[in-house]
Amino acid sequence: MKTVALTAGVVLIASVSLLAGADNEATPSIKQVMVKLNKGPNSPLAKLKTDLGASTPDWDNIQKSTKDFVVLGAALAKNTPSKGDKASWDKLSDLYFKDSKALDDAAKSHDLAAAKAAHQRLSTSCKSCHGAHKGKAS
Ligand code: HEC
Repeated sequence: MKTVALTAGVVLIASVSLLAGADNEATPSIKQVMVKLNKGPNSPLAKLKTDLGASTPDWDNIQKSTKDFVVLGAALAKNTPSKGDKASWDKLSDLYFKDSKALDDAAKSHDLAAAKAAHQRLSTSCKSCHGAHKGKAS
């Protein structure tokens, strides 16, 4: 009997830690967020510039992309960069998330001016954050 209870306990602990592992995996790293949203001419960020410049914007298509900014943008704050202090990271990652949210809200309400403004803020957010947080701790 004792062995059975022990085995059940071990199985329970094992599955709990598996679940915890799965939870960690669900939060993408900073690098994954950057690659998925911002990297290169085919990135959602670059495509959105074209999409928002169209004479009749395809809002359904645009919303698919802006939703990713909200989901992945939220993951930034859950990470810790290898460089820079926490207060700065909290501020800059929150700003990125807020602009992502503003972009998504504007896409949902088909507000082109607001969408373009939020996209512009995201597009110019790179340098200051990379300067403070990208690379190795100095
Ligand atoms: C909130 C801070 C922040 C903002 C805003 C930000 N980045 Fe980053 N980015 C980082 C950090 C930190 C890294 C380093 C991640 C690592 O290597 O772990 C990074 C890495 C990258 C990388 C390298 C990914 C790779 O393949 O290693 C690219 C490309 C990138 N960012 C593009 C951009 C662009 C383009 C923008 C603006 C549109 C931007 N990022 C805005 C913080 C930010």
